[in-house]
Amino acid sequence: MKLSAILLLLFVAPLSSHTLEQTPIHVHPVVEKRVAIIGGGAAGTSAAFWLSNVFGSHINVSTTLYERDSYLGGRSITVPIKDDEESYGYMELGASIFVPVNYNLMNATKRFNLTLTTLVDRNISERIGVWDGEQFLFQETSSGWFDKVRAIWRYGLTPLKIKKIVSTITGRWLDIYHESSAFVHMETIVDKLGLGDEVEMTAAEYYAKKGGLNERYLREIVQSATRVNYGQNLDSMHALGSHISMAAAGAKSIKGGNFQIFEQFALRSNADIRLNTVVTDIQTSLEYDSENRPITRYILETDAGTMESFDAVIVAAPLQSTNLKSFRRPEMPEYKTIHVTLIAGVPNSSYFDKSSIDVPTTIVTTGPPYVDHFDNGIPPWTTFAQHKIVHDSNETVVKMFSERRVTDEQLNELFESRSWTYRKEWDAYPVLKTLKSSNWMPIVLDGNTENGIDTSGIFYVNSFESLFSTMESQTVASKNIVRLLHQEWCAPAQDCPEFGDGWGSH
Ligand SMILES: Cc1cc2nc3c(=O)[nH]c(=O)nc-3n(C[C@H](O)[C@H](O)[C@H](O)COP(=O)(O)OP(=O)(O)OC[C@H]3O[C@@H](n4cnc5c(N)ncnc54)[C@H](O)[C@@H]3O)c2cc1C
Ligand SMILES: *[C@@H]1O[C@H](CO)[C@@H](O)[C@H](O)[C@H]1NC(C)=O
Ligand SMILES: *[C@@H]1O[C@H](CO)[C@@H](O)[C@H](O)[C@H]1NC(C)=O
Ligand SMILES: *[C@@H]1O[C@H](CO)[C@@H](O)[C@H](O)[C@H]1NC(C)=O
Ligand SMILES: *[C@@H]1O[C@H](CO)[C@@H](O)[C@H](O)[C@H]1NC(C)=O
Ligand SMILES: *[C@@H]1O[C@H](CO)[C@@H](O)[C@H](O)[C@H]1NC(C)=O
Ligand SMILES: *[C@@H]1O[C@H](CO)[C@@H](O)[C@H](O)[C@H]1NC(C)=O
Repeated sequence: MKLSAILLLLFVAPLSSHTLEQTPIHVHPVVEKRVAIIGGGAAGTSAAFWLSNVFGSHINVSTTLYERDSYLGGRSITVPIKDDEESYGYMELGASIFVPVNYNLMNATKRFNLTLTTLVDRNISERIGVWDGEQFLFQETSSGWFDKVRAIWRYGLTPLKIKKIVSTITGRWLDIYHESSAFVHMETIVDKLGLGDEVEMTAAEYYAKKGGLNERYLREIVQSATRVNYGQNLDSMHALGSHISMAAAGAKSIKGGNFQIFEQFALRSNADIRLNTVVTDIQTSLEYDSENRPITRYILETDAGTMESFDAVIVAAPLQSTNLKSFRRPEMPEYKTIHVTLIAGVPNSSYFDKSSIDVPTTIVTTGPPYVDHFDNGIPPWTTFAQHKIVHDSNETVVKMFSERRVTDEQLNELFESRSWTYRKEWDAYPVLKTLKSSNWMPIVLDGNTENGIDTSGIFYVNSFESLFSTMESQTVASKNIVRLLHQEWCAPAQDCPEFGDGWGSH
């Protein structure tokens, strides 16, 4: 993400119903609702938080949050460098940065008294290089002015045109924060935001249609940003994914780790948090209320052998990763495998044929069509970025992304010496295929939300990820689902408070 941020900054300043029960007249019994959330990442923890803020005293919502792992945060997690955070600090292993227009994360940072920082330590003077296996097609120097002149010479006005497109699309996306009614289909919100073309066309088709854009800039810079951000190239991914990759100006992360936002969401929600607990299946059961009216309830089974019953279930993890027995579908979106390798060591500058002073600190490999200099036309890795200087040594801490596991032999060539290597393979984000209205995953997996016959339901936050896979957008998607429950459960007679912005008194 940082790459596009820097290149954009070279040119322009940054962007800157009904009720479940007929309430008897005069009496307002407290309605009890039980909600289960599967997944303690950005989506699940924020869902718990919104749920705790928006129902007044007439509806008593109790939430149980199930998380398979031993920590909250999901794909947002840090690891201690050399297993010793106190001496060396930590690295973000998954989701790393967010931007000032990510209003939920920014608000959370402020309200939870967290501190913003930059992803790369300030004492590393970050310089970007785009490497084609033989040479740097583009690289920053330490002179911003020189870089600017050279970029205009190489790319003309295309950077400005791209910048304008990105800001138009960002503006359309931001309309989602003004939505006051819930959407139940992904295509509804895509249409409303005017992002149809952006998801129906590949980035390459989209830019070709715009016309007059410098192909070199698209392949050297824009595609480098998409490779850093989503590990995907312009020919295969939808245009929105490319715009998001180019909208990284002002990128920040949370000091101590981004996961703290999600930990705070969960803790402040007062949800019953069950770590190390896998939900194995959801069964539907028909029960009868005190007045003998049928209501659907959902029984969650866990690997601990428990079975509990809920009015609503929020699935807040990619469905195929949950392994829920009743939800194995063939058409689920494929997720991109990304290998993250963290290394403390001394980079080998002769690998890039440079003296150590000249080597860019963040290197991105080129994708098609510039792949002739890589063995078999496949870049061995996607990014190589120095994040920190190890105190009192010549080592730096490097984060690499790659499509395949980086072998020890490859690392031995890239580094003169290494004292620590840490590997993680992620199912990182969806393969951002172009989407026609029929290919979206449903938001409502079960239940009859549209004609209001039944207020129970199973809701799927991560259907949103095929549009947009970021921490922020998952908190936006979870808020929509909580809004849907609010609409369903809060008939006027129930005296629910307005949904507002979802933050309650926090
Ligand atoms: C390497 C990498 C880099 C990224 N970089 C960025 C970035 O810079 N900025 C950004 O905004 N986004 C980034 N992302 C994307 C971002 O991480 C995701 O979009 C976001 O974190 C998804 O949050 P989530 O809550 O929807 O899913 P997750 O974080 O995946 O949470 C789902 C949780 O559900 C749990 N779970 C699954 N099944 C079950 C079950 N059956 N029972 C109980 N629990 C279950 C899982 O253990 C997991 O904790 C990156 C992702 C990766 C992998
Ligand atoms: C809400 O539900 C919880 C759990 O069932 C219960 O402990 C609490 O007393 C209820 N609160 C009100 C106001 O009814
Ligand atoms: C962020 O907080 C401000 C100030 O409280 C509030 O007005 C705004 O609605 C919040 N934004 C979002 C996206 O929740
Ligand atoms: C917020 O954090 C700062 C620094 O960590 C601390 O000094 C301050 O007391 C905190 N404020 C609140 C309200 O917790
Ligand atoms: C570099 O800066 C970080 C904070 O940004 C600091 O913790 C670290 O000690 C510094 N390293 C060196 C070698 O100065
Ligand atoms: C550094 O890279 C060069 C060029 O690839 C290689 O010849 C050399 O062996 C590498 N150095 C080490 C220490 O591996
Ligand atoms: C760092 O490198 C310099 C120059 O190569 C060398 O003189 C010094 O001893 C090295 N320091 C450490 C801690 O390895």
